Amino acid sequence: MYNIAIDGPAGAGKSTLSRMLADRLGFVYADTGALYRAVGLFAVQSGVSPQDAAAVEQLLPSIRLELALSPEGQCVLLCGKDVSAAIRAPEISKAASQVSAIPAVRAFLLGLQQKMAQKRDIVMDGRDIGTVVLPHAQLKIFLTATPEDRARRRHAELREKGTKIAYEQVLDEVKERDAQDSGRAIAPLRPAEDALIVDTTGYELEDSLERLYQIAKERLT
Ligand code: DC
Repeated sequence: MYNIAIDGPAGAGKSTLSRMLADRLGFVYADTGALYRAVGLFAVQSGVSPQDAAAVEQLLPSIRLELALSPEGQCVLLCGKDVSAAIRAPEISKAASQVSAIPAVRAFLLGLQQKMAQKRDIVMDGRDIGTVVLPHAQLKIFLTATPEDRARRRHAELREKGTKIAYEQVLDEVKERDAQDSGRAIAPLRPAEDALIVDTTGYELEDSLERLYQIAKERLT
């Protein structure tokens, strides 16, 4: 079984590239951020502050969470309900980042993620896949880009969806989330020692995909 771990900050093209790479290799793709988002959503829906570690921890036994993986994509099931769209709301991005700093949440999701990678060829993306979740992955990539480049992409995406927002605000949010994800005490965002750093600044998506595919082909054959 081949495990490919792809980590990096938000907006470097990580989920799009991971999905495309998985497609091209015939692997399944798992976006682990969706699990943190589902826990964040569950807290918000339960009226619990995602920052209240003790209260969130108490909720965990009632969370039934499943990432249904198939070649067509992944579906996030929270207590039997498909929440794949609901977890993408902007307030849930913040809640996800907050619950991801709670050690009990990370412990709760660790086994789930490791089990997903046991029986199949998988590309798994997240923040601590190469360092914590799949330390024995055959290939580890740390995908990054400058905050300005990531904010520019995110800004264009939002504009396309009809959301009016200033570029400066998007850039501030990108920097704030970076600081939160890299500065937390537990499983902070950082490249694994044996990760290849791939910087996508200034590259078109197709070119970055080609780079990743060539790296994967070389490493996995
Ligand atoms: O990739 P994303 O934006 O969907 O992730 C949502 C949040 O979850 C993000 O703030 C970081 C956190 N996360 C994490 O701590 N560990 C992971 N493996 C994946 C995501």
